[in-house]
Amino acid sequence: MIELTNLTKKYGKLIALDNLNLKISPGEIFGFLGPNGAGKTTTVKLICGLLKPTTGRATIGGIDIQQEPEKAKRIIGLVPDFPFVYKKLTGTEYLSFIGDLYNVPLEEQGEKITNYLEMFELGQWGNELIENYSRGMQQKLVMASVLLHDPKVIILDEPLVGLDPKGARVMKEIFISLSKRGTTIFMCTHTLEIAEAMCGRIGIIQEGKLTHLGTKEELKEKVTAGGSLEDIFLKLTGGSEYSDLLKYL
Ligand SMILES: Nc1ncnc2c1ncn2[C@@H]1O[C@H](COP(=O)(O)OP(=O)(O)OP(=O)(O)O)[C@@H](O)[C@H]1O
Ligand SMILES: [Mg+2]
Repeated sequence: MIELTNLTKKYGKLIALDNLNLKISPGEIFGFLGPNGAGKTTTVKLICGLLKPTTGRATIGGIDIQQEPEKAKRIIGLVPDFPFVYKKLTGTEYLSFIGDLYNVPLEEQGEKITNYLEMFELGQWGNELIENYSRGMQQKLVMASVLLHDPKVIILDEPLVGLDPKGARVMKEIFISLSKRGTTIFMCTHTLEIAEAMCGRIGIIQEGKLTHLGTKEELKEKVTAGGSLEDIFLKLTGGSEYSDLLKYL
């Protein structure tokens, strides 16, 4: 469903993404992990057509995002790392705008918008301007807008940042239900317990290179670490050697 071939992005001399090859199947929940600055958001922007690759290509459902951007974008839902919303609209207006953009039939919009606002506990907020929403509420609204047009592929960049525990739990349940219905989910996250609970396969990127790929069990075989994904991740990325840093305290 997502196929990345020799995908490379350079910013000047910096190679932010170095020859990434990856295939993600329909219904898979893929976790993309890596330290700050590793190239995760760059990858997300390349998949969604917000950046042009230096070399290589990304296809979504067989559609090349650079060659047929509108066709590919129609089947993608993106939840970016910072919620991007029009703050002078109300929540309902924003959802209806996104519904129109993605050709959600007008007669379906009303009920869906009411239901999704309710699902994210924004029912009382539909007629308020988005500028009065907290960050977490804006994040939930973006997620509602993605569900509204029912994309085949959902790309999430740190989807749980800013969500309260209940919001995070609801979001997790939503991702699992969607994947059971065949929606493909590509998720960048630092929240390793979420990745551990939800993701089939995990890719670890470091300094632009995909260094590890597999299920949690497969990654575990590579290290002599404790049982949690956090232990495995820190071991694989050299992140368990931090005691030296504490000398500055
Ligand atoms: N527009 C840009 N111009 C120049 N360099 C950039 C630009 N955007 C990102 N970079 C660089 O590319 C590298 C990868 O950044 P990216 O945002 O993809 O990392 P990330 O894995 O998403 O990190 P984080 O976990 O902090 O979100 C970093 O070194 C960053 O400084
Ligand atoms: Mg990022």
